[in-house]
Formats: sequence, C-alpha cells, structure tokens
Amino acid sequence: MSGPYEQEYNRSIQDPEGFWGEQAEQIDWIKKWDKVLDDSNKPFYRWFSGGVVNTCYNALDRHVEAGNGDRLALIYDSPVTGNTVRKYTFSELRDEVAKFAGILTAQGVGKGDRVIVYMPMVPEAAVAMLACARIGAVHSVVFGGFASNELAVRINDAKPKVIVSASCGVEGAKVLAYKPLLDGAIELSDAKPSSTIILQRPQGPCELKPGFDIDWQEAMATATPADCVPVAATDPLYILYTSGTTGEPKGVVRDNGGHLVALNWTMKNIYNMDAGEVFWAASDVGWVVGHSYIVYAPLIKGCTTVFYEGKPVGTPDAGAFWRVIADHGVKTLFTAPTAFRAIKREDPDAKLMQNYDLSKFEALFLAGERTDPDTLEWAMKALDRPVIDHWWQTETGWSIAANCMGLEPLPVKPGSPTRAAPGWDVQILDENCEQVPRGDIGAICVKLPLPPGALPTLWNNDERYVNSYLSEFPGYYATADAGYMDEDDYVYIMARTDDVINVAGHRLSTGGMEEVLAKHPDVAECAVVGVEDSFKGQLPVGFLVLKLGVTKSDEEIVKEVVQMVRQQIGAVAAFKTATVVERLPKTRSGKILRGTMQKIADNQEWKMPATIDDPAILDEIKGALEGIGYASSRK
Ligand code: COA
Ligand code: AMP
Repeated sequence: MSGPYEQEYNRSIQDPEGFWGEQAEQIDWIKKWDKVLDDSNKPFYRWFSGGVVNTCYNALDRHVEAGNGDRLALIYDSPVTGNTVRKYTFSELRDEVAKFAGILTAQGVGKGDRVIVYMPMVPEAAVAMLACARIGAVHSVVFGGFASNELAVRINDAKPKVIVSASCGVEGAKVLAYKPLLDGAIELSDAKPSSTIILQRPQGPCELKPGFDIDWQEAMATATPADCVPVAATDPLYILYTSGTTGEPKGVVRDNGGHLVALNWTMKNIYNMDAGEVFWAASDVGWVVGHSYIVYAPLIKGCTTVFYEGKPVGTPDAGAFWRVIADHGVKTLFTAPTAFRAIKREDPDAKLMQNYDLSKFEALFLAGERTDPDTLEWAMKALDRPVIDHWWQTETGWSIAANCMGLEPLPVKPGSPTRAAPGWDVQILDENCEQVPRGDIGAICVKLPLPPGALPTLWNNDERYVNSYLSEFPGYYATADAGYMDEDDYVYIMARTDDVINVAGHRLSTGGMEEVLAKHPDVAECAVVGVEDSFKGQLPVGFLVLKLGVTKSDEEIVKEVVQMVRQQIGAVAAFKTATVVERLPKTRSGKILRGTMQKIADNQEWKMPATIDDPAILDEIKGALEGIGYASSRK
C-alpha cells in the first residue's frame, strides 16, 4: 500500500486542480477563483485566475483578526549590532507595515508600481516587502552584497518609483556604507526613482539629499496607515532577479494567489510547522530563501520567523546558531550547507553545542547547493536529528524535491534531496526529450504545468521566459540542473548545465564575470569556471589571454580584474583568483571548453574532447592552474 506521500503526490499530478483547489481553502480570499488552473494561454499557465486576494492580509491581518495578534511574528536577532534583539507581535508588525504602506502611498506608489528594496538583514526589509504587498505594489529586493552596477541593471529593468534602503549594513566586524552604492546605482541608471526612503542606522548614518531622500524614522512618526488593497491572484507580488548565463539577470516574477497557496502548504507538509511555532531560515532577504522562508511562508502560516543579522561563525563564534535556536525556541532551521561547513571547520567536535538547550529543535533543512556527504554526516551526528536536503531554485519558489517531513518522512539517502515534492512531475530527459533509464544522467525537467508558486514568467519578458526554460524540451520546464533518478524515484542533482555557479550558497553567473574581465583594456579573451572549494562549495577562477604588446605585469592585471569584479558585481562574487594563459582551449567551432578546464582544475578524471582544435593547450592550462594551486598540485 502506498503511504501518505505517494497518495498526495499521485493526486497532485493526476488531479492538480482538485489538489490545489483544496489547499487554497486555507487562504483568505476576497473573491474566490473562477478557475484553479487556467491553461487558456499555454505555455503561460495561471493559477487561481479570477481570484482576488491580498498577500499581506494573509500574512498579518488575518492572524490579528483571528485573535492571535499577541503571538510573536518576528524576532530580530543581531549579534553584529551589540546583541540587539527586537520582537514584533503580529499586531505590532501589522501596524508597522500599515504605516510604511502609508508612506509608500504618500510617495505615489500604487498597485503595480515597482519598489526596489536594497537593505541589510534588518526587520525593516520585511516591513518594506509586506507594505508593498499590502498596497499591491511589486517589490524587487536586491541583495546587499551586490555593487552599484548590478543594482543599476535591476533599476533599469524594474523601473521603480521608489527605492527603500539603509545607511549601512553590518557584515561581521565590518560596517559597509550602502548609501554611496545606492547613489552610484541611481547615477548609472536611466530609470531614476522619484524618491528614496532611507533607514538611518546608528552604526553608520549617511547624508540625505533634501527633497529626494526621505528619512525612514521621521516619515514613520507622521505616517497615515494604509489598508490592504485587493489584487488579482495572478497579479505580480514581486520580481527577484537571479543569475543566468549572461550578465543580464533574469527577473523572476511571483504571483499573489499561487504563491500564498503553495507556501502555506509547504510549511506543514514539508517543514512540519504549525502556527505558533518558531521557524528560522538563516539566509538573507535578498535571496529566494529569504523571500519564501524568512518573510512570507512562516507569517502566512502564523509561525514566528527569526530574522538573524549575523554569520554562522565569527559572530562571535561557531556556537552562534545553537545560541539562536536556544534563545528563541527554534523548531526548524533552514540554511545552506556552506554554513555548516563553516561551523564544522571551526568547531569540528561541535563542543559549543553543549552550552545550549536545543530541546525544542527538531530538524535541519539544507538547500542552495549540493550537500556533500561529509557535511551531512557531521550534521546528523552532531545534531542527532533529521537533516533534510531539499532542492529548489529562485524560479520555483519552493522545493522541487524534498523529504516531506509533515506528510511522511521517507528514508534519507545521502546525496539525494529525496523525491519530487507533490506538484512537481520531475523527469530526466535526453536531448531528444525522451526519458532516460533509471540511474542514467540527463537534463532534469518538470512536465508542465508547474505547480502554484513557481514563476509564471520573467518580468516584461515572456519571450526570454520561453526561450530560457520552455523551448529546449517542449512541454517541460528545464531546470538547468543535470542529474538522475534511482529505482526508488530519489532524485540526484549533479551539476548545472549552464554557466551558473554556486559560491557559499549564492547563485552567480560565470558569464557575468567574463563580461567584466573582457572590459579590461589588456584582456583579449577570457573564461571563468567554477572550481570545487571545500568551504564555499565552488569558487570562480578566471583565465585571461592578454592582447599583444601589453606592458603591465601579469600580477598587476590579475589584481586589476579582481578589483573590477568586486566593484562591478560585488564582494559576494568572491572572485579572487585568475591566471594569465597564452590561449584558451576551444572546440574546432570555437566554443571554449570550460567543462574540461574545470575538471583539470579540480584534479578530476577528464577525457580529451574529440572536437578540440589543439590538444597541447590543455597542458598549458594545467601548468597555469598548478601555478595557482589547482590541478595536480591540489591536495
Ligand atoms: N552585504 C554586503 N556584503 C556582503 C553581504 C551583504 N549582505 N553578504 C556577503 N557579503 C560580502 C562578504 O562580507 C564577503 O566580503 P569580503 O570579500 O570583503 O570578505 C563577500 O561578500 C563574500 O561573502 P561570502 O561568500 O558569504 O563569504 P563570507 O566569508 O563572508 O561568509 C559564510 C561565508 C559561509 C559564513 C556565509 O556565506 C554564510 O553564512 N552562508 C550560508 C547562508 C546563506 O546566506 N545562504 C544563501 C542562500 S540559502
Ligand atoms: P538559487 O536559484 O540561488 O536557489 O540556486 C538554484 C540552484 O542551486 C539549483 O539550480 C541547483 O543547481 C542548486 N541547488 C539548490 N539546492 C540544491 C540541492 N539541495 N542540491 C544540489 N543543488 C542545489
């Protein structure tokens, strides 16, 4: 007999309308949908069309109206600002959000207008996001580790009416001024906002331009609260830019109705969370994990979310996570494997854990990158609790594959994020769009329609949506991950099929970095590949071919390109290593053999590509890599 997981999974695939229509009853609608799944304009499927709803109402007001206004909604814990802890009940957060929504309205922001949020991990970031949702505006949060140029690219695409930011961020021991980066981005952009709203932080206040920069606290003191505005279920809630193959990021769109229904379902069924319990996603609001599981899902479900401004190590030590779990009674923690690698490196025997009461803690969920078996084993042994790997993407908004702990925990197989979650018809395909035999590697695809909560399109770019995700395998969404499925339907994620790499759980484009390197006046040609790193998972390494007659030393040029990437993409790219080579290995048709270079760098077995134009180049590449500590000189 099949268990609850299999029953739910099968129903979600065979009768998606019945399955999701039932789940949608858990959401408060202003007007119910006409159609659960609208497939009248394939491949652009829409969930709950005709429905009218408000996401902020479902995240905050409805809990207050149900008599749970005194429950904790958000706990801000910030070891980097003198151990600040600030707690908001659902009533308090609703009031803050309503006031901030009033400020946005006073600035002319209305339904459908875009607002960029460029903020560190302060609760005001969540307030700004929810305030946009309240008035039907579309937020686009930009991760604080991106530099002006990346922010400018997003401003140009989203064309925000207002930008919300802070005077500074605090990264470990460093105070990083945000305002110069914001000013620089606005200067670079050709879609200037009409105003900015700036949160002054005592760690690093900034100058405000009268008539343009509005002081957050001053405006809040006199704000008139704004009410929830009805929006269509299919209206956009947010845009989140993510790295693709080129330096031009993709604006992933999320709708209101499908997102509410799906995230609410995941909280119980995947994470086994009930209202009133404490959930902590140790990530950043700038990433999809932050959108879905720091802000929206826990609040929609009526859980308390922890908003942590700190690191797993160094703030002040590798016991930081255990301290937060104990102080706030966290039931479930969600983070990236790299955070656990950081803790394991500093406290290999998990001695610091002994200092804290973890009795309320039940499970650890990991995502964002592959969980290496060492880290998985270490975490399972140290925590003595389930450690659940689950796989998803910015585009999907929630897990494609997971061990659904609230539905039916399945046996863990190290190296696999378990089986496809309900709603996701995952298939492994070959280049002819045929399913490959079990155990064979292929392109991991999802048969359309995607479930609610997944992206309906890219911002202002239906064509790119179709070209990027739907055209290679007609009738399927291509995840751009390669992998296989075993006899028990467990999915294994092996590699990206595009130029995206994962550095400390942060998704980055090597193509975007190449675009920066190519701008150096002495660089004729370049390539960037992601090499294995035992701490951050992957790190970018650059290969530079210089123009003839260059007089500067190789070291100088490497130093300059490293600085250029830091300035134009941001510190988060962690681009610190490059080497100068005579030529790049290419196929006879001129395609750079990045995959082979990566294997050589990682000291893995590799085959001579049949189409290489000159095999001798690979020896040169190997020599250059050895010179910077890679290839066979790698331990
Ligand atoms: N604002 C500004 N700068 C930022 C930033 C932010 N929000 N986040 C990172 N940076 C900077 C860092 O300070 C660092 O700068 P440096 O080169 O001057 O040292 C650089 O970007 C690289 O950051 P990162 O790769 O995160 O390395 P780190 O050494 O600072 O921290 C970890 C490493 C593992 C502790 C950290 O990445 C982490 O906690 N990751 C796990 C959780 C997570 O965020 N996952 C994301 C998706 S779930
Ligand atoms: P992002 O859009 O930043 O969430 O990154 C998505 C990509 O991260 C996926 O396409 C995968 O390549 C990788 N990824 C996320 N979660 C996992 C996981 N659990 N195992 C392996 N890779 C993962």
